[in-house]
Amino acid sequence: METTVTTAKWGILMLMLHPEAAQRAQEELDQLPERIVLSDKTHLIYVNALINEIQRTANILPINLLRAVAEDIEIDGYRFPAGSMVLPQISITMNDPGNFENPEKFLPERFIDENNNLKKVETLIPFSIGKRQCLGESLARAELFLIFANLLRNFDFICPDPGNPPSLERVYGLTVSPKPYLCVIKKRVI
Ligand code: HEM
Repeated sequence: METTVTTAKWGILMLMLHPEAAQRAQEELDQLPERIVLSDKTHLIYVNALINEIQRTANILPINLLRAVAEDIEIDGYRFPAGSMVLPQISITMNDPGNFENPEKFLPERFIDENNNLKKVETLIPFSIGKRQCLGESLARAELFLIFANLLRNFDFICPDPGNPPSLERVYGLTVSPKPYLCVIKKRVI
């Protein structure tokens, strides 16, 4: 729950700060009935791109779980004896300008190609990579889709004081959360 809820907190914050992105996702969702189901996922290109960008910018687990080196090994001239503890930081790739142009900008469009297909971007790795990558990835992806698609289909997320927007400061804990913020949630009438 911790990871999915923390991603949802960042996501709602981003929707509030980027109403144009929320609106574009709503235009796509408005073609469907009020209740969005998992089988709708493949047709909703912008919604998927939006969730990708939320996960990229939220980067809630920037430090991966500990590993121990299984056998003596040398990499790039550095010796790692068996048993050494290693703490990878794989997710820095998601903020690398070599992988994502203007990484500080919130741009769901970066995940859509010129034919309006969702791009497969190998450097988007919120669930990490390798043998120890997240075991719950498929469940989490399904949850995030259902949460964001249904919330956006039915509600608007409005900044209560646009002149004084909420902070994007990162609060480090088991996962990285935003600071508590206020949001006006308004039922949409379609
Ligand atoms: C948005 C939601 C989630 C995100 C962003 C996320 C991300 C991650 C990341 C980055 C790791 C570390 C992998 C590494 O050290 O290389 C991890 C590990 C793990 N995750 Fe998730 N996770 C999420 C949801 C879930 C859910 C829903 C479950 C289970 C139902 C889950 C189960 C696990 C487990 C068991 C591991 C440890 C794997 C291992 O060490 O072998 N995660 N997750």
